[in-house]
Amino acid sequence: MIPDKAPQEDVFHCSEDLKKESHIPSFEKYKELYTRSIENPDEFWGAIAKDFFWKTKHTGCFLDYNFDVTKGEIFVKCMEGATTNICYNLLDRNVHERKLGDKIAFFWEGNEPGDDLTVTYRELLQKVCRFANVLKSQGVKKGDRVSIYMPMVVELVVAMLACARIGAVHSIVFAGFSAESLCERIIDSQCSLLITADGFYRGDKLINLKLLADEALQKCRDKGFPLKTCIMLKHLSKEPEAAGRQSPPAKRACPDLEEKRKVKKTRPVPKVPWNPDVDLCWHSLMGGAADECEPEWCESEDPLFILYTSGSTGKPKGVLHTVSGYLLYAATTFKLVFDHQPDDVYWCTADIGWITGHSYITYGPLANGATSVLFEGLPTYPDVGRMWQIVDKYQVTKFYTAPTAIRLLMKYGSDPVQKHNRKSLKVLGTVGEPINPEAWQWYHGVVGEKRCPIVDTFWQTETGGHVLTPLPAATPTKPGSATFPFFGVVPAILNESGEELEGPSEGYLVFKQPWPGVMRSVYGNHERFEATYFKKFPGYYVTGDGCRRDKDGYYWITGRIDDMLNVSGHLLSTAEVESALVEHKSVAEAAVVSCPHMVKGESLYCFVTLNDGVAFSQALEAELRKQVREKIGAIATPDYIQNAPGLPKTRSGKIMRRVLRKIACDEKDMGDISTLADSSVVDELFRNRCATTV
Ligand code: PRX
Repeated sequence: MIPDKAPQEDVFHCSEDLKKESHIPSFEKYKELYTRSIENPDEFWGAIAKDFFWKTKHTGCFLDYNFDVTKGEIFVKCMEGATTNICYNLLDRNVHERKLGDKIAFFWEGNEPGDDLTVTYRELLQKVCRFANVLKSQGVKKGDRVSIYMPMVVELVVAMLACARIGAVHSIVFAGFSAESLCERIIDSQCSLLITADGFYRGDKLINLKLLADEALQKCRDKGFPLKTCIMLKHLSKEPEAAGRQSPPAKRACPDLEEKRKVKKTRPVPKVPWNPDVDLCWHSLMGGAADECEPEWCESEDPLFILYTSGSTGKPKGVLHTVSGYLLYAATTFKLVFDHQPDDVYWCTADIGWITGHSYITYGPLANGATSVLFEGLPTYPDVGRMWQIVDKYQVTKFYTAPTAIRLLMKYGSDPVQKHNRKSLKVLGTVGEPINPEAWQWYHGVVGEKRCPIVDTFWQTETGGHVLTPLPAATPTKPGSATFPFFGVVPAILNESGEELEGPSEGYLVFKQPWPGVMRSVYGNHERFEATYFKKFPGYYVTGDGCRRDKDGYYWITGRIDDMLNVSGHLLSTAEVESALVEHKSVAEAAVVSCPHMVKGESLYCFVTLNDGVAFSQALEAELRKQVREKIGAIATPDYIQNAPGLPKTRSGKIMRRVLRKIACDEKDMGDISTLADSSVVDELFRNRCATTV
């Protein structure tokens, strides 16, 4: 499956310099370890597990599983019998055993240039212990779910690790999601407490997060799910004004991280509504909390977190990850894929609200004692050179971003990049969607000055960590290919009948056996887990992505082959957007497809059939956009909305999205449309299609 020797032609090789310090310095070494990881996973992962702390050791085999629905319930169990605490492994172990207490864990860089602070491992441990005690004082216990809806601040990491310390299960909701989305996730995970912040700036735009959180809590109450506690961090305001009945304590009782910030805000701060029955102030709670908190010793398969990802039915799925397997997998992929070295400064530009931030801002880097940049702002604010200015400021060595950000910055040419020194960079990574070779070449040539290998990492919320990826000093790369499997991962390509294809081929990307970091269930709905990932091809985990394997054995992801859209590296389901549209009183039916977009990868093209007597207008279009933003969040805002008096349907009434996709992309060759009930609707839709810019 993987070639014995890496190809020498049409590939990019990494520099000899990088190989000198690398953990995996050659393709032969990768191949040898890969074979070992598949033939003897117990020995392979067992050796890695020795680097971590286990209160009690595991008994029996390393990975026990059933991946075949025809043989019974799907399950994966890693290191059964072991007990540990992931927070202890990330912080206490680094501070006390590895003597890294004074090492910087995070350089926090705010939205405004110059607004920054640093946090050491010792400080992080102290904050986490305090907040763990706060959570306990609010009655949060092992196994309880806690929702976190926060901007990119150090306290977000503190909150998630405090949950992990006491065995509570965090459910982070990206701060760009709407109140409705937050409410849906709080209820689905039956959370007992919400942690949020007053607000934050994204560039020039103020996001009044507390208002959205309050709206979500009101919706929860309306649906019969009253949440008792909401803890609010004052991020923008030192002394938030109370618009409600009673103000939170005006003075901070605890000198905290925010006070280390050098630049004080001059911008307007939001008025923060305050409900004394529910709201508590982060700072006053922290002021009264003790500095020490004994970790809760968890079983290997105890839940660690839930993270929602789009589902094809429109209802998001709560992807569940558990303690030990996730720890080992996030830590190992981080160490080897970024070839982590003790003096590295690593920067992942993702938001912690997505899986990339969970695995590669919090868990993976901290498990390795790494120093990372945690960035609150935007790549284009205050100017399009911001990323490279930050790279230079912190002398970033390993940099991880998304193709959409690369394509966005590419539009402005190489000048804004070249204005800043990037000599510190050693490895560049991408994630989230297929990277087009042109963007790959620009990243490699302009950003990395042809010096830095590019690791194009393919993975999913469900996989917990990288599953197809180059290793920087071992894998010769081809622009646009995620190359080969990570250790322990066995990919296959299937045809429509479920047969495994050999050699160069194209089809469904599946995995034949679990690796430690794979998801364990859909929270509260194991049947949905089995139906989504294991029913189509019994015996395999089905990714939902199409994939091609070339003559050299390289894997190339071709994109989603289900009803999922990938907008700026974020998955959305067509059903989710459609249901937001049809909730509008004027809309009878909606169908959503994607068409290519130069920066976002894909854009949302929506067809709406209006109720009788309703006229299509710009005002209605604006209302529909607003409706989707409010239901889901800004990332789902439709790019195009077309009035569709009729939709192309089969005789049995099924909407033919394949036909709509052709219309959205202005492709006249429709293929076989013999099953279409009324072909005149297609001509009509073509005549009135929106003018798209690709
Ligand atoms: O379609 C693939 C695409 O993103 C999907 C997973 O999305 P999500 O769970 O939100 O996680 C994103 C961050 C890991 C995949 O099914 N995808 C992710 N990385 C790549 C990719 N497609 C091609 N190449 C990648 N490197």
